[in-house]
Amino acid sequence: MNPVSCVLALGLFWSALGTDFHEGENVVRDKERHGLEKSELAKSSAGLNEQTCTALPGVEAALLNNTHSFTFEVGRMGSLSLAWVGDGSGVLLVLTTFQVPLFMMHFGQSNLYRSEDYGKSFKDVTHLINHTFIHTEFGIASSPDHSGKVMLTGDVSEIGGFRLFRSKDFGMTFVPTDLPFEPHIQMLYNPGDCNTLVTLSITLDLWLSEDFGATWRKIHDRVCLVRWGPKNSIYFTTNYNGSCNDRGMLALRKTADYGRSFKTIATRVYSFVLGGRFVFASIMTGTGTERMIHVSVDGGEVWNMAQLPTVNHEQFYSFLTANQDMIFMHVDDPGDSGAGTIYVSDDRGAVFSKSLERHLYTTTGSDTDFTVITSLRGVYMTSILSEDGVVETVITFDQGAKWQTLRRPQNSHCDTETSTNRPNRCRLHIHASYSTTIKMNVPMLPLSQPSAVGLILAHGSVGDAESALSPDVYVSDDGGYSWLLALKGPHHYTILDSGGLLVAVEHTDLPVNQIKFSTDEGQCWHTYNFTSNPLYISGMDSEPGSRSMDVSLWGHRNDHSKWVVITIDFRKLFTRECTEGDYIQWLAHSADPSGSNDGCVLGFRETFLRLRKDTVCWNGRDYAVTKKLSPCPCTGDDYHCDFGYYRPENSSECVEQEELKGRPLEFCLNWTTEQLQSSGYRKIPGDKCEGGFQPDRKETDLKRMCTSNALRPNSLTENSSPNTAVIVMVVIVILLMSGVAGVWLVKKYVCGGRFLVHRYSVMREHVEANKIEGVDDIDPHYMETGKAQYNEDSDQDLLE
Ligand SMILES: *[C@@H]1O[C@H](CO)[C@@H](O)[C@H](O)[C@H]1NC(C)=O
Ligand SMILES: *[C@@H]1O[C@H](CO)[C@@H](O)[C@H](O)[C@H]1NC(C)=O
Ligand SMILES: *[C@@H]1O[C@H](CO)[C@@H](O)[C@H](O)[C@H]1NC(C)=O
Ligand SMILES: *[C@@H]1O[C@H](CO)[C@@H](O)[C@H](O)[C@H]1NC(C)=O
Ligand SMILES: *[C@@H]1O[C@H](CO)[C@@H](O)[C@H](O)[C@H]1NC(C)=O
Ligand SMILES: *[C@@H]1O[C@H](CO)[C@@H](O)[C@H](O)[C@H]1NC(C)=O
Repeated sequence: MNPVSCVLALGLFWSALGTDFHEGENVVRDKERHGLEKSELAKSSAGLNEQTCTALPGVEAALLNNTHSFTFEVGRMGSLSLAWVGDGSGVLLVLTTFQVPLFMMHFGQSNLYRSEDYGKSFKDVTHLINHTFIHTEFGIASSPDHSGKVMLTGDVSEIGGFRLFRSKDFGMTFVPTDLPFEPHIQMLYNPGDCNTLVTLSITLDLWLSEDFGATWRKIHDRVCLVRWGPKNSIYFTTNYNGSCNDRGMLALRKTADYGRSFKTIATRVYSFVLGGRFVFASIMTGTGTERMIHVSVDGGEVWNMAQLPTVNHEQFYSFLTANQDMIFMHVDDPGDSGAGTIYVSDDRGAVFSKSLERHLYTTTGSDTDFTVITSLRGVYMTSILSEDGVVETVITFDQGAKWQTLRRPQNSHCDTETSTNRPNRCRLHIHASYSTTIKMNVPMLPLSQPSAVGLILAHGSVGDAESALSPDVYVSDDGGYSWLLALKGPHHYTILDSGGLLVAVEHTDLPVNQIKFSTDEGQCWHTYNFTSNPLYISGMDSEPGSRSMDVSLWGHRNDHSKWVVITIDFRKLFTRECTEGDYIQWLAHSADPSGSNDGCVLGFRETFLRLRKDTVCWNGRDYAVTKKLSPCPCTGDDYHCDFGYYRPENSSECVEQEELKGRPLEFCLNWTTEQLQSSGYRKIPGDKCEGGFQPDRKETDLKRMCTSNALRPNSLTENSSPNTAVIVMVVIVILLMSGVAGVWLVKKYVCGGRFLVHRYSVMREHVEANKIEGVDDIDPHYMETGKAQYNEDSDQDLLE
């Protein structure tokens, strides 16, 4: 659950190829305190809801002494990346790298800085890595188990090779180890045991270390994509007889004993994905170009064809997200419509039903707005392409059983001229990945945190989506049922103190000296002028998990060769810790307080203790979400529409799909034909309702053999074909429009989805474009940094 370690890379690629890369190599200059001593402080002022907001006393006194600044010298062609090590340790490593690509080689130099106080001060610890050039694209690999392990990959090609710098003590000391190969991707930690790592070499050999990188063993060759599975298993695709680009010709293999033995679990593979309990592979059927999703719940021993439409080579499947109970899958529509259908699975991952039609998912950019809201159970948000071609946000509160448009915020303005004849255009639209891809002015994706119950921060616009040139920040405090206009214009934002404090800074082309914060979940905002010498802000960062009280602003002043970080500790703003009386009971999903089933979602109610909006106190690091569960009787809402049925818009009834009418609902499971007798309803996987509505549903084994998969059993014994090129990661890319430069923020998960990586890089638009063109099918690392994706496991060719 806890996001573990986090790497944030700030990369700066200012024009000037061929600039002297030695420039600024000797590091840290001033601590820039002088700027702060003179800093002016704003009076606390109200946000958009001024009438009802009262000023917070003592803001200046509390924050002035707790604002720290530090400057990193990065040269004119440098990049800067940072990683949190451990959880609550306050340790932050910052790596600055200057490099010049020269023909096929890269020359460069790196500096390493370490902070033990959440970024308030840094020490230059470059001597720990002996001034070795560290490849930024391999990142700072911090272990996901918070044990303080961290690894850097150094380039010592002048003496021929690569060197690993390994630390087990939160970066206090590093041990150098020469690698027997040239790495191609970042080291991947085994989420079950962070002493074990795998990686691919540039020659596509699979290497494994069981002693935290001290010694390495080559366990396989010709590997295309590798992932850690549960119980120390490693899944990978390989092509013995061709290239990884031979889609549909790969073999999916698995080892459960760290490479001592292997088993081929599927052939003719196009792509694979691990998610929840499930292994998915898209597999070529017959002789044509069609492929079908196959699923296994036992790690690849038994495969079944998923009951999903087949796609041809021009279409794609995309795995949106999975939990322990079920998965969301997008299936592209035929033709270049930019849309498809979301299907949701049963608990076997095999029988799917339609959840949402016209789901926006562009073929060219492979972008979707699909967003998992982590602050409330069962909530997902995405965009559809309406019949008249408008992009519209829809939300589900029950894991995809029903979707609805967002309610218009009470305090938002909607242009009456457009609304008179098109009233539904006054809906709230939330901007996510798709908006960032089409380069709208949206610096951040929607934000939610499990520890900040019910809270969502997002950019949105009300009115005609196309006219939303400058989206505003909206806040929801009930998991997306209601929304409030919080801040005018685009902002960077973050959640601190488990939701007790929200912080935002304006996103503009101009330098900024003011930070905004709210102690009441975004209703009232106060300001603090953190410097007298305004800064061009590139991004904002705080420790993953949203428990900290410190926020860091990253940016530069007029000198582009220096990165400035200003860290503000908000702890002193609060004069006391929260006590029992500061919390109230809150029933989640309460949409109809008079209804007997109010708050029932997926079979139970959850009552949380939440901080009262009008109190100003400190939740603290040890704050844990407190909730009480109570069961609910079953109603129609506890059911997905069954295979062959769907819910028309606005309807709660499931109706039979036209194309399947009169056809018996039969499907093949585990080599025998199952007949489904259904009245149209199937309990939502994971639903815990008791009694109540129990529609008829029966699966009968017809005792008739059938083909439950398109795998060729006899081919599985030998080393045989095929490929992959998919991404098994969660990636968030944010395009920050900042004057001359586009800024990307990429969040990705590696190491079984538990190794959180942020990456900022600032680059000129053409550099960014080149980066996408340079996407290598077999290298998920580059795909992640080049693409805008969320929660995505697409088997689509990103370049098509
Ligand atoms: C704080 O900065 C803003 C501009 O960013 C300025 O308008 C305001 O007057 C400043 N407040 C104080 C108290 O200096
Ligand atoms: C700020 O810090 C200085 C020295 O550390 C101290 O003398 C001063 O009283 C502090 N001011 C406030 C308002 O806490
Ligand atoms: C550091 O690098 C220099 C030259 O690059 C080398 O002579 C020296 O032995 C290295 N020191 C360590 C501790 O690796
Ligand atoms: C769904 O309901 C809304 C408002 O209740 C209505 O405007 C819309 O036309 C309905 N859609 C359909 C397909 O019935
Ligand atoms: C498939 O059937 C075999 C026997 O035919 C049985 O042992 C196995 O457990 C079944 N697997 C699943 C996933 O139903
Ligand atoms: C490898 O390729 C050769 C020629 O292209 C072919 O004859 C052979 O059957 C292939 N082997 C496998 C295992 O696909």
